[in-house]
Amino acid sequence: MRAYWKLKSDRDGSGIVLENMEKKIDEAGTLESLEKIRVEIFGKKGMLAAEFAKMKDIPGPEKKAFAEGLNRLKAQLLERFERRHAQLEAEEMQSRMRAEAIDVSLYAPNGVKGALHPVKDTMDRIVDYFTALNFSVESGPMVEDDFHNFEALNLPKNHPARDMQDTFYFSDGTLLRTHTSPVQIRTMMKRKPPIRIIAPGSVFRRDYDLTHTPMFHQVEGLVVDEKAKVSFANLKWILTDFLHEMFGEVDIRFRPSFFPFTEPSAEVDISCIFCGGSGCRVCSRTGWLEVLGCGVVDPNVFEAVGYEDVSGYAFGLGVERFAMLIHHIADLRSLFEGDIRLLEQFR
Ligand code: DAH
Repeated sequence: MRAYWKLKSDRDGSGIVLENMEKKIDEAGTLESLEKIRVEIFGKKGMLAAEFAKMKDIPGPEKKAFAEGLNRLKAQLLERFERRHAQLEAEEMQSRMRAEAIDVSLYAPNGVKGALHPVKDTMDRIVDYFTALNFSVESGPMVEDDFHNFEALNLPKNHPARDMQDTFYFSDGTLLRTHTSPVQIRTMMKRKPPIRIIAPGSVFRRDYDLTHTPMFHQVEGLVVDEKAKVSFANLKWILTDFLHEMFGEVDIRFRPSFFPFTEPSAEVDISCIFCGGSGCRVCSRTGWLEVLGCGVVDPNVFEAVGYEDVSGYAFGLGVERFAMLIHHIADLRSLFEGDIRLLEQFR
């Protein structure tokens, strides 16, 4: 039957015998050119389709033989095509693998490594210390309201202590939180004691000089439990241990101070890590550096959140101040200028 078909297979007198296609398939050098050939042969307007179309003109008795021959040829071409396709695919995969091969024995020159920003690094160290002691990490919104940022913290309207913090206000009366202390309030209002949290985060004040930027970071701490379980002594122990962890063998003193939300309150100083306490420019010749504020939670704060028969202690610190002392950074503003040369020093 093949012979019969072969005879009739000249296409529109062009002389191209379909069998020539076998050669064409075998000679296709790329998957792309093979695809073109596939369309030429098997496509809707391809050669096979054209041959099948001729069937209608073939007289009845010969039709069957013609069709059989044509189908056989089609199957043969298809097999040929698939074989070549598989070959080309394998070849292209091979050459791609060769091109993309990785020489694992190659010497790798040192790449440029990034570095943690000193504020982030210091924040991590502080958080690690307290989470190791079972404090959980809380957060609150940066856009706060007067109640959480001031009122509930025993800072009623017109209280002179509000002047301690230069506040950014929005026209609707909300504000950018001036400290992380409002997270104390939010946590106590949504949870029952006992409470043992730290709250790291950004805070905002209208200030800009060598030691102040309008945005900086604080870590707040709060512990609340039954009255017999929380005391100033606990606070003093934990902060002393914490400061030794952060600054090494320094002297530590608790100096009586005032915060509206704590009573009694203290500011905590470490002996100057630059002069060892003998007095230098950094410590203003006092031999001491102030590093945090703390105290026993004022009963008015518990009243504002509806807590009864509990006692607590709280503390708050500025992360940038810690970072500057730990890394001997002179100008706070350099931490926020985005100069890559600063980070390069901390690799
Ligand atoms: N919120 C105070 C500030 O921003 C820091 C502070 C002091 C927090 C004493 C406290 C605290 O929780 O007990 O200056």
